[in-house]
Amino acid sequence: MSLFIKKPLESLMAQAADSDKGLKRTLGPVNLIALGIGAIIGAGLFVRTAAAAGDSAGPAVVISFIIAALGCAFAGLCYAEFASMIPVAGSAYTYAYATMGEFIAWIIGWALVLEYALASATVSIAWSEYLNKLLESFELGSIPYQWTHSPLETSAEGVTGIMNLPAFFIVAALSLVLIKGTKESALVNAIIVVVKVTIVLIFIALGWSYINPANYTPFMIPEGTPGHEGFFEHGWGGVLNGAGVVFFAFIGFDAVSTAAQESSNPKRDMPIGILGSLIVCTVLYILFSRVLTGVANYQDFQVAGKEASVAFAIEKYMTGYGWLAKLITLAILAGFSSVILVMLLGQSRVFYSMSKDGLIPGVFSELHEKFRTPYKSNIILLFFVGAFAAFIPGSIAGDLTSIGTLFAFVLVCVGVWVMRVKNPGVNRPFKTPLVPFVPIMGILVCSAMIISLDQATQLSALVWMIIGLFVYFGYSKNHSKLRL
Ligand code: ALA
Repeated sequence: MSLFIKKPLESLMAQAADSDKGLKRTLGPVNLIALGIGAIIGAGLFVRTAAAAGDSAGPAVVISFIIAALGCAFAGLCYAEFASMIPVAGSAYTYAYATMGEFIAWIIGWALVLEYALASATVSIAWSEYLNKLLESFELGSIPYQWTHSPLETSAEGVTGIMNLPAFFIVAALSLVLIKGTKESALVNAIIVVVKVTIVLIFIALGWSYINPANYTPFMIPEGTPGHEGFFEHGWGGVLNGAGVVFFAFIGFDAVSTAAQESSNPKRDMPIGILGSLIVCTVLYILFSRVLTGVANYQDFQVAGKEASVAFAIEKYMTGYGWLAKLITLAILAGFSSVILVMLLGQSRVFYSMSKDGLIPGVFSELHEKFRTPYKSNIILLFFVGAFAAFIPGSIAGDLTSIGTLFAFVLVCVGVWVMRVKNPGVNRPFKTPLVPFVPIMGILVCSAMIISLDQATQLSALVWMIIGLFVYFGYSKNHSKLRL
């Protein structure tokens, strides 16, 4: 049977109607935007911004944010069409199964592991950085370097990491929360969103008067700067690389689409939820990165300010605001936890669907008798994600997450376009405007960001995808429920 066998749209809809009995349709547009922001604002803003500025973009990281936002907006418009057309809990994997067939769906599902699982690992590593900062700021000492870094990292003093214990700890703790099935209630999420947005606004408002205009010159890292010889390490190339890095900060808006079945009017509200959260975050990110690179010099982020950069910038340059650094650090820790939770949940949901479809073993969809959660999947993920969090540096995990997600976005853009040509008659409550222009732009901008990321990351992602092909042809193709 063909590699491109499709899951009939009708059966997906029936599945959605069926689970309607279980899931209440309670989320309106404001809840959906809050859900999006809850999953979006995290390590990308509070950690990767400084990394992108220090490593490749300089103060022009503001432009990197604009490029990344454009890529997300084009892809987001395509996501919105799918999410309104197939309002089923799931994600790009589910859309692809219905539209482009099993093989492409498999590839997207496999790439989404990079997105969800590695994003959880990356944010956990960032959590560990800010935890240490918090301990230091309360003068409680700090966890030694070797227990907060991967074996692939060495400090300026020559200490090499052994494992990142706090990062592993937070993955384990939140996995246990997920097993118990404590659903992040809309209220808890709303509180965390308010806290996150408030600290971003406070930092922008107070930091504004501490901007030193000299920090904006040079605006991009000049050619010939030692350590920045590569094409994607200075000038416009560096800005593009920065876009690939800070793209991480936008990951999560697609998580809104996973709540389609809980939305009271998915056809109208899905696009509002996806695009609304994207717009709010883009505005905040642009202002935030402008202030951060104005308060501190981008070169700070290559050395001492590399970790927990926001707290660093406040402590060093905004005298008298030590309390703010403490408060922000606390809020960031809480905010990171909600992102990790949503990402771990997203991963177990994608695995759940793939397992139900027979593409991965049934253990990933076995439910706990009492908690009704896929607990075995959560435990496997605990160790898989935990291993990444403990032994891989945050920058590698972060860039791999970006690549995996960008790749999935490219396929979603292709999917919308293909569907328009092949199934023009399907009811589309929300239509992506200007097809094929918008999908093509999405493909181009996202591909450019993929190309700008470093080669080691590209190679690792390629190896991951090749492993995926072996799994598909060795297992999934023969176990697919659609073929039985
Ligand atoms: N966008 C999320 C973050 O920045 C994944 O942490």
